[in-house]
Amino acid sequence: MSTQEQYHDSAEKHVSGESVYINDIDGGSRMLHGYVLYSKLAHAKINSIDVSKAKAFEGVHAVLTANDIPGQNQMGPVVHDEVCLANNEVTFVGQAIALIAAENEDIARAAANQIKIDFEELPAILTLDEAIEKGEMIGTPRIIERGNIKEGLANSRHRLKGTLTTGAQEHWYLETQSCLCVPGEHKEMNVFSSTQHPSETQAIVAEVLGVPRNEVVVEIRRMGGAFGGKETQANHVAAWSALLAYHTKKPVKIHLFRDDDQIMTGKRHPFKSTYEIGFNDDGRINAYQIELNANAGSATDLSMAILERAVFHADNAYFIPNISVVGKAWKTNLASNTAFRGFGGPQGMAVIENAVDRVAQFLKKDPAEIRYINFYGLTDKNTTHYEQLVENNRLFTIYDQLIDSSEYFQRRKAITDFNAKSKYVKRGLALTPVKFGISFTTSFLNQAGALVNIYQDGTVLVNHGGTEMGQGLHTKMLQVAASELGVTPQHIKVNATNTSKVPNTSATAASSGSDLNGMAVKNAIDKLRTRLTPLAAKLLSQKFNASVSESSIAFENDKVFDRNSPSNSIKFTELISAAYLNQISLSATGFYKTPDIHFDKTKGRGKPFHYFAFGMAVSEVEVDTLTGHYQNIRTDILHDAGKSINENIDLGQVEGAFIQGVGWCTTEVIKWNDKGHMLNHSPDTYKIPSVQDIPKDFRVELLKDAPNPNTIKQSKAVGEPPFMLAFSVWLAIKDALAAVADHNIDFDYELPASNEVILKVARELCKGNE
Ligand code: MTE
Ligand code: HPA
Ligand code: MOS
Repeated sequence: MSTQEQYHDSAEKHVSGESVYINDIDGGSRMLHGYVLYSKLAHAKINSIDVSKAKAFEGVHAVLTANDIPGQNQMGPVVHDEVCLANNEVTFVGQAIALIAAENEDIARAAANQIKIDFEELPAILTLDEAIEKGEMIGTPRIIERGNIKEGLANSRHRLKGTLTTGAQEHWYLETQSCLCVPGEHKEMNVFSSTQHPSETQAIVAEVLGVPRNEVVVEIRRMGGAFGGKETQANHVAAWSALLAYHTKKPVKIHLFRDDDQIMTGKRHPFKSTYEIGFNDDGRINAYQIELNANAGSATDLSMAILERAVFHADNAYFIPNISVVGKAWKTNLASNTAFRGFGGPQGMAVIENAVDRVAQFLKKDPAEIRYINFYGLTDKNTTHYEQLVENNRLFTIYDQLIDSSEYFQRRKAITDFNAKSKYVKRGLALTPVKFGISFTTSFLNQAGALVNIYQDGTVLVNHGGTEMGQGLHTKMLQVAASELGVTPQHIKVNATNTSKVPNTSATAASSGSDLNGMAVKNAIDKLRTRLTPLAAKLLSQKFNASVSESSIAFENDKVFDRNSPSNSIKFTELISAAYLNQISLSATGFYKTPDIHFDKTKGRGKPFHYFAFGMAVSEVEVDTLTGHYQNIRTDILHDAGKSINENIDLGQVEGAFIQGVGWCTTEVIKWNDKGHMLNHSPDTYKIPSVQDIPKDFRVELLKDAPNPNTIKQSKAVGEPPFMLAFSVWLAIKDALAAVADHNIDFDYELPASNEVILKVARELCKGNE
């Protein structure tokens, strides 16, 4: 099997059910079940908490409130504005107030019902409109501008104004937030946490326990999905179970019940954005002014970084000479919203994509043509609003190939003909591009570490700082190690991620897991090879009685040989035994930091991204204007994954991200009532995409011959960028709706385009058309 065909390292274990998740770890007979009592009020003062009855309950080992926290009552990841347990106030429905450790979950629940809390309800702010009108901002506005927006708009031949709201999204990882904490001797705490960010989980656990970080070890073998939802919010469950384990001196596991998970954890940030776009007769955008408003929820969490990414992506793939982007994050009495695939990028990009469609309809042109003429240029018009050069721009290559392979213009004509004859069922088509910046926008986070051990039998254990959440990172790291060390994958194992093996890591996020950790693994292996090469040359010279130079030593297929006479080889295992006897260290750490990225926040200028990922999609849908139902007839995707390390995994990422994006764009509506209670917090009322939402005809390809310079094996990050290809479906639905009024009426649109939204728009357009 070539390494390109390497299958997911957990594939067999997933199928046989042997894959171990947190809930599968045997915590032993002393293990207790942790339970979290949370607020049912969105905003209230806590006058008193009485836990005496719950404590006396048979089978209960601990009941904890804020007063029982030995360290800091804090779990804010960036800003310390998030208490671990509410003390005198609750600020959202789902906020943790008390913790219970009991012999089983039933006992814990029954005991929780015995806790008496005296609340005094306070007014709550729940929506963006209320927050903008009378609420509080989190952080300061983020602003990036270029050119002169006032003059730009004034000098544009046409101008359109609008507002776009984009909705929340629940992560719906199959494995809910989980953690098992096993206390060790003295202050030690071993934490098995389903976390994307073990080092931060370690830091937060240490802080709430009031112990130094070297007493806390966090380990994660794999997550059952994360999608950003476990970048910071896995810390919560970890901190709570650590507190219970600390007080009971027993292993404690918390595995959130699905509905509780949905109620307690943050979502994708809902946004409300207002914009004005100025353009000329040919469709060239001359000016774009946008204000993005994010519903941050009750604490900062990652809201500022998410807002910044939204501001960076307000342009999507288009060069705009005069542009002003302002971002604001608002505090509300909802669970703190958090990272979700795309990390603000989708919210920023949705606005311009919708605006470009309006421009096209206004000028009676095909939206694909308007997109094309506004793409960043190859030689000029090639800097973003923050003045990063758009290098290796693949927009034109992808556009040309996809327009052809999807038969875009032929199908456009067929759709126009179809719609002319069909009164209630309308078809729509849309092509949408993605340009997505790769790197953490907080520049210092772009670093990674690795620890590679070779054992005396020649087997290799790769530790790196990244976490596996289904995306195939460990498989790719296995492939990198195999090819760099010339050892076949069956002799290599990628270890569970562990903070005592690789410390001070960044979250596995920003799609940069393989970029960063791949280079760190390579760096460790480079060191090992450098140490082993002189010995290899010596052994080969002795064995074959020839002079072998170190520079011609090769490691391949479990062998070490002289490139000039490849048949003269020794086994890798032979070299390793000799290395041990020669007292050569067989273990090395690796490190990597992304070179040449920087960003000046005060000026709004710099090179925040190592490079951009590109992709495009064409989707065709059929909308029933009488029911609001839509069906995806066909989607064609061409996505740039550089020189893919593993094509099957990357194709899986593209398909999965697209479908997850389709969920956000169409079916996934989250509703809160006027008391701040989420109305659909279970799988029967929250509509994630199902098989019905997969395009009937789904054609997904990776761009060929597209090596990416200066990255591990010339590959490109692929985890998040294809999420935004789902705009093609959202705008194809819009196109079908516009056909109700023969593309003559400009109308307000929103995201998601749920069945209700489709029906509402169709009705309005019918009326307007009468
Ligand atoms: N794929 C699966 N199967 N499960 C996940 O949780 N998370 C996504 C993406 N793909 C996710 C996934 C998100 S939000 C990110 S940032 C990247 O994977 C993180 O992994 P990477 O950096 O290794 O691509
Ligand atoms: N993406 C994901 N997570 C992050 C980022 C980012 O750009 N910045 C800080 N955390
Ligand atoms: Mo992904 S939202 O950066 O975890």
